[in-house]
Amino acid sequence: MRGVSAHWIANAVGGVLHAGAEVTVTSVVKDSRDAAPGALYAAFVGEQVDGHDYADKAFAAGATLALVSRPIDGPHIEVADVTVALGALAMHYLADLRRDGDICVIGITGSNGKTSTKDMLSQMLPHVVAPVGSHNNEIGLPLTVLSAGVETRYLVLEMGASAPGDLAYLTTIAPLDIGVELMVGSAHMGAYASREELAEEKATLLNGIVAGGVGILNADDPLVNAMSGRAPRTVTFGFGDADVAATDRGTEGGRASFSLRGERITLSLIGDHHATNALAAIAVALECGMSIEHVSAAASAALPVSPHRMALRERTDGVRILDDAYNASPESMRAAFRALKEVASGGRSWAVIGEMLEMGEASIPAHDFLGEDAVRLGIDHLVVVGQGARPAYISAVREGSWGDEALFVATIDEARQLVADRVEPGDTVLVKGSHGTGLWRLADQLIGEDS
Ligand SMILES: Nc1ncnc2c1ncn2[C@@H]1O[C@H](COP(=O)(O)OP(=O)(O)OP(=O)(O)O)[C@@H](O)[C@H]1O
Ligand SMILES: [Mg+2]
Repeated sequence: MRGVSAHWIANAVGGVLHAGAEVTVTSVVKDSRDAAPGALYAAFVGEQVDGHDYADKAFAAGATLALVSRPIDGPHIEVADVTVALGALAMHYLADLRRDGDICVIGITGSNGKTSTKDMLSQMLPHVVAPVGSHNNEIGLPLTVLSAGVETRYLVLEMGASAPGDLAYLTTIAPLDIGVELMVGSAHMGAYASREELAEEKATLLNGIVAGGVGILNADDPLVNAMSGRAPRTVTFGFGDADVAATDRGTEGGRASFSLRGERITLSLIGDHHATNALAAIAVALECGMSIEHVSAAASAALPVSPHRMALRERTDGVRILDDAYNASPESMRAAFRALKEVASGGRSWAVIGEMLEMGEASIPAHDFLGEDAVRLGIDHLVVVGQGARPAYISAVREGSWGDEALFVATIDEARQLVADRVEPGDTVLVKGSHGTGLWRLADQLIGEDS
């Protein structure tokens, strides 16, 4: 972050500065444990903890200023709402960076694949800010913006749409030079009346593109393709008719490969679905002026960066854990089942799955489908964890699973025990569920149980 004065911040957020008039801020944090000398500590009031109680710790770690919604001891700026103030701060900060420098802001939305695409771009573009993890909401996004500096050439932002209006707000903070639409799936469906309404929300990202900017659209998703015309200019990507059109799509050992403009690209990432994310990242990088040779090599070499996303680990006992437990939606479950089948070839496949959360009324049919899908694909063992996911177990039994082909356990501990008792060398175990189910802990435990 480029240093800014306390006065500048107070002006940007419309807040009142109490002491600390002479300080300069060189980073912004929301966790007192991340505070370093020069930090602005933003105090949020959460369900469990009140950040104001940790301001002392932030100051002790070197923070020079706090952003607060009630007075505290020490230099601070008081505002009515810290989240809104953080957004305003990021908006003004980015506007200044744009005015003084040469920064290209890239925003990525879509029901699945935002983090994966961002992580690939971070391995393709020079002088890039694209932090590990998701950071796609009204707090994470401004913090990401504030981590850019004068030396940043590309700022890659993930933009999530969990409720109507989210994308309009996020693009107000960070107007885009390049806006990427990956797919309209059914994640976060609970907040929307229909997929069309969700598509309309996603399309608002394109309204946030600046004059002269470009929208990069997945031509293979009809709801995304229908958005062309909403951006000042459009570039499409896909495996059929598109501006950036790949051909000869295949997989090798669960890894996607395809041809593009004379280059053969084989991803290091696991899962056929990453072909779409890679192609999106490539379309962006080409638009940024990178050569086809460079982006092809970078796409093939790109490794998983953010944890729990299709991470394949082989334990010393010969059991492989496919950890895709960061989150789950119908599309990503479908993709993960198929990757599991490919990766497990030769050994037995286990899918240990937890609930897909935030599905609203679509929840029961979506879980029903999982059970059927697992059986039809021939996944050897389906372990369903937790009541919310139970319809997947019932439908697997209805679809013809018997004995121990489909199993139900109520808790993660039981799942862990079951897997420990049953897996054999050569087996591959997929672990996947929505973040809130905590199945990522099970993935960590299974990987840790290395003997
Ligand atoms: N095009 C795709 N189709 C289906 N599944 C996908 C696709 N892209 C990624 N996934 C899967 O979706 C899950 C989430 O991926 P990723 O973290 O990249 O998405 P995200 O859009 O950032 O999610 P979130 O909204 O939780 O931040 C992973 O299991 C990943 O393998
Ligand atoms: Mg993400």
